[in-house]
Amino acid sequence: MIVIRSQAEMRQWSREQRARGKTVGLVPTMGALHAGHASLIEASVSRDDTTVVSIFVNPAQFAPHEDYDSYPRTFQSDCETVESLGGAAVYAPTAKAMYGRDYATYIEVERLQEGLCGGTRPHFFRGVATVVTKLFNSVLPDRAYFGQKDGQQVAVIRRMVRDLDFGIEIVALPTVREKDGLALSSRNEYLSPSERARALCISRALFAARDMLEAGERDAGRIVSEVKNVMKDVEIDYAAIVDADELTPVERIEGRVMLAVAAQIGNTRLIDNIQFDPQEARASTQERARSSGA
Ligand code: PAJ
Repeated sequence: MIVIRSQAEMRQWSREQRARGKTVGLVPTMGALHAGHASLIEASVSRDDTTVVSIFVNPAQFAPHEDYDSYPRTFQSDCETVESLGGAAVYAPTAKAMYGRDYATYIEVERLQEGLCGGTRPHFFRGVATVVTKLFNSVLPDRAYFGQKDGQQVAVIRRMVRDLDFGIEIVALPTVREKDGLALSSRNEYLSPSERARALCISRALFAARDMLEAGERDAGRIVSEVKNVMKDVEIDYAAIVDADELTPVERIEGRVMLAVAAQIGNTRLIDNIQFDPQEARASTQERARSSGA
């Protein structure tokens, strides 16, 4: 496994892989790798001939009052993780190399970047879309892997890739959770034991909502009020049911939707979501009925 620091070296390395007929998979991360990141790396290693994991804490997606300075940085152990999972390269440019003096160009994905997390973090998706574009331009991947845990991020990147003709396949993978339901996140390590216990209401609320959806509830308002009720002991930033691709609010659940929540627990902001498709739910109920001979 090699560590690559500069854009030019990264591009050169990828061009060599591609010249040898190898496909390149990219897993963009900000490091502090956990099992959620590992699931993306494993998916790329099993599908692509070479896997690049980028590790870059991106200043452009943090506002001045946010946790850029304190964000966990565990570069050595991250490299060991990537190597043990079969990754071929870690791409870790410096902030100076990425955003040198006079940096002036940003990508904006209109509408999709505005709601949900965009409401409280207006700078955020512009920073994400910009850095992902820069990573794509240096790594030249065939496929890039993202976690559904950051559902709005996946929707924003898919739209950007489509609108700007990147020709890169975006693969989204399910959220990896602790046994008790808490979605893995690099920010979980900010939580004290009592905050962590309180944070569990986030996944509990989503699972309660999933039960309602599976039982046939289609009124978004009723589901969101149950979610807010289960999350009453934390400070809710938002809880909303939106169209999974357009991210527009829905009142009745007819197509694929995302139920997304964000909450502040002490100084830590956590997000989580589930997706639900009534058509798929109907198909799997019919399938179960058929296989049980009903
Ligand atoms: P980061 O938070 O490090 O996450 C990197 C990738 O891991 C993202 O695609 C994220 O959705 C995924 N991920 C995080 N927790 C996960 C979990 N519990 N299960 C499955 N996947 C999970 O997201 C970012 O970094 C940045 O915004 C980035 C895309 C790298 C741009 O800077």
